[in-house]
Amino acid sequence: MLLLLFSISCEDGAEHKFDPPEGYKARSGKLIYNKHCTSCHGGDGKLGSGGAKNLTVSRMDSTEIVNILEKGKNGMPRQIQYLKSDEEVENIIDHIKSMRK
Ligand code: HEC
Repeated sequence: MLLLLFSISCEDGAEHKFDPPEGYKARSGKLIYNKHCTSCHGGDGKLGSGGAKNLTVSRMDSTEIVNILEKGKNGMPRQIQYLKSDEEVENIIDHIKSMRK
C-alpha cells in the first residue's frame, strides 16, 4: 500500500484541492488509465503516440509522476483535473508502475 502526502499545486501556485463528494468511491487505476491515458500511451503503455513515453520502461518515482500529472510536459497535457481524490492519484500511480517490465 502506497502512502503519499500530496501537496499538489496548480500552475498559478494555488494548491490543488480534491473535493470528492461524501462517500465518493475512488475509481481503479486501470479504469482511469483506460479513460484518459490510452489515446497516447496505449493499453500496454507502449503506443508512444505524439511522443508519449513508453511506460513499461519508465522509472519515474511517485513524486515525479504526480508532478507530470499536475503540470504536464511537452506533448503531455496536465491530467490532474481528471482525478477526483488522493486515492485515485495513488491508484493511477500503482497502475502505471504495474505496467513496468
Ligand atoms: C495527449 C497525449 C497524452 C495523454 C492523454 C497522456 N500522456 Fe503521458 N505522456 C505523453 C507524452 C508526449 C509524454 C512525454 C513527455 C516528455 O516529453 O517527457 C508523456 C509522458 C508520461 C510519463 C513520463 C514517463 C517517463 O518516464 O518520462 C508518465 C508517467 C505519463 N506520461 C503518464 C500518463 C498518465 C498516467 C496519463 C493519463 C492520466 C497520461 N500520461 C496521459 C502524452 C500523453
